[in-house]
Amino acid sequence: MGKGNQSCVTEIELLGFSDFRALQVPLFVLVLAFYVFAVVGNTLIVLVTAAHPALHTPMYFFLRNLSFLEVCYTSVTLPKLLVNLLSESQTISFLGCGAQMCFFLFFGITECCLLSAMAYNRYVAICCPLQYALIVNQRLCAQLAGGAWTIGTLAAFSQTVSIFTMPFCGPNRISHFFCDILPVLGLATTDTHQYEAAVTILTVLLILVPFLLILLSYSLIISTILKMPSAEGRHKAFSTCSSHLLVVSLFYGSAILIYMQPTSVQSQGHDRFLSLVYTVLTPTFNPVIYSLRNKEIKSALRKS
Ligand SMILES: *[C@@H]1O[C@H](CO)[C@@H](O)[C@H](O)[C@H]1NC(C)=O
Repeated sequence: MGKGNQSCVTEIELLGFSDFRALQVPLFVLVLAFYVFAVVGNTLIVLVTAAHPALHTPMYFFLRNLSFLEVCYTSVTLPKLLVNLLSESQTISFLGCGAQMCFFLFFGITECCLLSAMAYNRYVAICCPLQYALIVNQRLCAQLAGGAWTIGTLAAFSQTVSIFTMPFCGPNRISHFFCDILPVLGLATTDTHQYEAAVTILTVLLILVPFLLILLSYSLIISTILKMPSAEGRHKAFSTCSSHLLVVSLFYGSAILIYMQPTSVQSQGHDRFLSLVYTVLTPTFNPVIYSLRNKEIKSALRKS
């Protein structure tokens, strides 16, 4: 250690929710329940959609990918949160913090891209049903999913490397429950204003653009649905769309609120509760809403 740019901090203290003593145990129970539910539910979806040939369609290909992603995504932050909620010491090694941030960004950004690929798939299915099989073929699906994973990899690595090559020689406590970009950035012992601006721009690109694409897809879908002749078909199509839109808006809404504010606000720690929405709540509900309200999955589950 010691040479100019290398880090002085070897451990980071994740204060998490330790200033809310009375909340620790209820929060532990709640997060554990959500986490178990997310892992079991998503694993089931991956297994069922892989095992049943009737489910080898683009929609279930994306859903399998999303469910797999959600298991990874929740496993980056929640096990550590659960341990910290019960233990006295709440530290994470500097390297562990970097790894956590990298994987969190990787899975999070991939998820944003994958969700917009899924919205595009629905848009083609509903708005151009006749050309659907021609447009959304196996190759396009693999390319869209592969593209999502590639963007996630590149963005996560570049962000993490550029943050963790900054000097960290000062405070080592963050009032958050995992090593997210902005809280960690607040610890860097250098002027991070320019970097904060870069984070905001990247957030706009990586979160806002997929979100707008999703909104666009769904507004086209809804306008097509409104033109449908049968009221029953309209109602059915509308109810699936609205639940997807709700979950997607919660996910993006909380993420946009958090990543688009300066670290000075972030350091007060109000955001921890909002962060629970996109780390705990939506990853659990996403696949459930995409699949369990779905007859094909239900019948495949019953057969298994
Ligand atoms: C997700 O998509 C990628 C890229 O097409 C593919 O390589 C991977 O096997 C998929 N994962 C699952 C669990 O289906």
